[in-house]
Amino acid sequence: MKQPVRVAVTGAAGQIGYALLFRIASGEMLGKDQPVILQLLELPIEKAQAALKGVIMELEDCAFPLLAGTVATDDPEVAFKDADIALLVGAMPRGPGMERKDLLLKNAEIFTVQGKALNKVASRDVKVLVVGNPANTNAYIAMKSAPDLDPKNFTAMLRLDHNRALSQLSTKAGVAVGEIEKFVVWGNHSPTMYPDYRFATVGGASLKDKINDADWNANDFIPKVGKRGAAIIEARGLSSAASAANAAIDHIHDWVLGTNGKWTTMGIPSDGSYGIPEGVIFGFPVTTENGKYTIIKDLPIDEFSQKAIDKTLAELEEERGGVAHLLG
Ligand code: NAI
Repeated sequence: MKQPVRVAVTGAAGQIGYALLFRIASGEMLGKDQPVILQLLELPIEKAQAALKGVIMELEDCAFPLLAGTVATDDPEVAFKDADIALLVGAMPRGPGMERKDLLLKNAEIFTVQGKALNKVASRDVKVLVVGNPANTNAYIAMKSAPDLDPKNFTAMLRLDHNRALSQLSTKAGVAVGEIEKFVVWGNHSPTMYPDYRFATVGGASLKDKINDADWNANDFIPKVGKRGAAIIEARGLSSAASAANAAIDHIHDWVLGTNGKWTTMGIPSDGSYGIPEGVIFGFPVTTENGKYTIIKDLPIDEFSQKAIDKTLAELEEERGGVAHLLG
């Protein structure tokens, strides 16, 4: 039997947490032969801690063979102790009519504290995925608050946008989701993101040529993917949870176990590729192997795409400006 992997999850008693923990414990994220220890963080308030206790009781009642232990705490330094993987989900979720900017400052403080705690106690190879919104900027704050860890360990979740877009493309082109390769979502996890299927293929043939509908791309597809989160809130009265948890599982699964040469999208600190300033957490096309990701370089960027990339970058720069004073 392999050594257990320590997986920290924040906001563990929230709705994404509830859709996430059971799948991690069943082996869907790291493999059916990989034991896990869940280290769960919730707010130091009675209701949250009681809810977390209830979730752990349910985890126990599943008798997962791969669940080698659980820790419940309200202390980030306990939750992140020796963590190999940290899923930073806990944040204030956006309710109907709430602006992203309002969320920015409320969440900045949380991710400064958690970045510092990761810096102090987590495994030096910890893989961090920020789900809590605004995800890219929260990941940036955590990364900057953890100077002793490799910045490459900090990522933000664009995978839900990636998956949402794949589903739209599959319906439009009448092909199975799994047949689509070389697709990417550039930029921020927000309505400004740029889902880009110019390089996508189906069975080796161009998906763009197959769809051949520039009007649909600009006026239907891109806005629909960008506003999908708001559409779910409107329909459900709550933000996406099961699909968000699913995307988090996909992100970590692929990061740890590799994509076998296939592209996926990860929000990662820029290395300067495509003119994105170094350090900005940006959705890029990547492949992954042996626990490391590599950006797909030198893709041609046409005028339409450049404008879209500039727009989402401008938003990220604005968010970054909004929290700069907190980072010293
Ligand atoms: P939720 O409100 O159901 O759960 C959040 C949980 O986090 C609560 O139980 C709360 O007590 C806890 N929490 C808050 N601050 C915390 C802290 N400092 N430390 C530990 N726990 C803390 O929210 P839900 O639906 O689970 O969403 C969580 C976050 O994920 C939200 O910010 C939401 O906007 C974001 N999200 C991101 C997506 C993405 O694609 N990146 C997709 C969907 C949601």
